[in-house]
Amino acid sequence: MGKVLLVASGKGGTGKTMFSVNMGATLAQRGYNVLLIDMDMGLRNMDLYLGMENRVVYNIMDVISGICRISKAIIRVDGFSSLYFMAAAPRLDERDITPLHMEILCAKLKEVFDYIIIDCPAGIGEMLEVSLEPADRAVIVTEPEYAASRDAEMTERFLRDNGLSDIYVVLNRVNVELMREGYMPDLATVASCFTSPLVGIIQEDENIRISTNKGIPIVMKRGTYIEKNFVDIVAKIIR
Ligand SMILES: Nc1ncnc2c1ncn2[C@@H]1O[C@H](COP(=O)(O)OP(=O)(O)O)[C@@H](O)[C@H]1O
Ligand SMILES: [Mg+2]
Repeated sequence: MGKVLLVASGKGGTGKTMFSVNMGATLAQRGYNVLLIDMDMGLRNMDLYLGMENRVVYNIMDVISGICRISKAIIRVDGFSSLYFMAAAPRLDERDITPLHMEILCAKLKEVFDYIIIDCPAGIGEMLEVSLEPADRAVIVTEPEYAASRDAEMTERFLRDNGLSDIYVVLNRVNVELMREGYMPDLATVASCFTSPLVGIIQEDENIRISTNKGIPIVMKRGTYIEKNFVDIVAKIIR
């Protein structure tokens, strides 16, 4: 049976989608069968980060509303034999998605995939509530900023209050120099905001921005410090 991993944050732009895509790619590179689901309806961009924007025909709302079969909305990501993707709806529409819909969908997907990674919109909204239902584990991606940490702490509390306690925190966009000089909260300060463990740190690196712009997950370039870092972080999350 597969596991459902939720990727959430407090603030927007902390790197959830970048993290989801690269966690999925890292797991697929290790032979796992992985499905990435974009739940950011109306503001989707996972398709872009995977370089798959021209391949999307159906999306998760089409599946939920019965317009197409599940398999029609699942696309294999170029360059991978076991990484798949389901897009979000391109705009917010009238169609309804409930926690029960998501539970039923994920129960079916878990028979096929080892990991289902759900990339949520920022903050505590309807899509987080819906995605929470089938989730076994969550990763909160935050930044070394007081505002981001406070918002992420609220998201953590929301997840715990709703029965999800297996939660990990990843600190993205770290600038070591600024942190050392005291212009950014340090690791101990960020870690102290959360009950859940801080399992990884990702540095601010222009190569990450370039990779999302190009639509090529950064971990596809093997042997870099970023790829090794992802392998370490992902190992802690799936252990
Ligand atoms: N560690 C990093 N270094 C540099 N740029 C980053 C890093 N993490 C994310 N980014 C960039 O920040 C932007 C927002 O990331 P994204 O994953 O879309 O955030 P979110 O999904 O949380 O809104 C993207 O352009 C991405 O390339
Ligand atoms: Mg996103």
